[in-house]
Amino acid sequence: MFITFEGIDGSGKSTQAALLAKWLSEEKGRDVVLTREPGGWPGGSVLREMVVGGSLRHKWSEAYLFMLDRAEHVASVIEPALDDGKDVVCERYHDSTLAYQVWGRGMPLDIFDELARLSSFPVPDLTILFDILPENALERVRSRGKLDSFESGGRSFMEKIREGYLSLSKRDPERWLVLECGSLSQEEIFRKMISSLSSRGILSDK
Ligand code: ADP
Ligand code: TYD
Repeated sequence: MFITFEGIDGSGKSTQAALLAKWLSEEKGRDVVLTREPGGWPGGSVLREMVVGGSLRHKWSEAYLFMLDRAEHVASVIEPALDDGKDVVCERYHDSTLAYQVWGRGMPLDIFDELARLSSFPVPDLTILFDILPENALERVRSRGKLDSFESGGRSFMEKIREGYLSLSKRDPERWLVLECGSLSQEEIFRKMISSLSSRGILSDK
């Protein structure tokens, strides 16, 4: 099973991905790899620094780096794990490029759809969107400390990204699970996520 976690910065992806990976492993006895983009492969931390540091100048550099990061991540982490029959829980994946680079930066959607297809990036079995209002997420991000180049885009940038995610979820509703997080606690969101997954029948014991 390949599950991806999406949402604007500060929406709670890391928190819930860690909880789900632990639950799948401890409660369901599944072999789970928890990973993330950007930077989730050996060597990826350098690339992550370049891309979130905000010093790239060409309009396309950021997009190229995210696609390169994904290609190496797929080849060195995601595909080997799936081939071994493991579950992969991944924070951010190709939908982040669609939401941030296409809806956020105004780049063309068809090119990124085509690149993902030509690169044979595996399509997730399930993508969970943690949907939250930008002002609530930004408040959390600000209390985390220094903002990265994306977080500094502020509320109007995050509103575009959120709109992108909601459009993407409508384009492929079978793959997407949209969790409205509102002001729910971490525990409440986790319970909501598990009950939605169970009702879709995708979390059977191994
Ligand atoms: P993301 O990975 O989407 O950026 P995180 O999981 O890192 O989000 O969460 C961002 C911050 O918000 C963290 O400090 C985390 O502890 C906190 N947080 C996560 N979920 C909730 C929640 N449901 N309510 C309040 N704070 C939360
Ligand atoms: P990340 O550290 O996961 O952000 P957060 O934990 O705050 O949600 O990702 C760094 C930034 O990279 C984030 O603002 C989203 C952005 N990003 C893209 O713009 N395109 C992409 O394809 C990916 C994977 C991330």
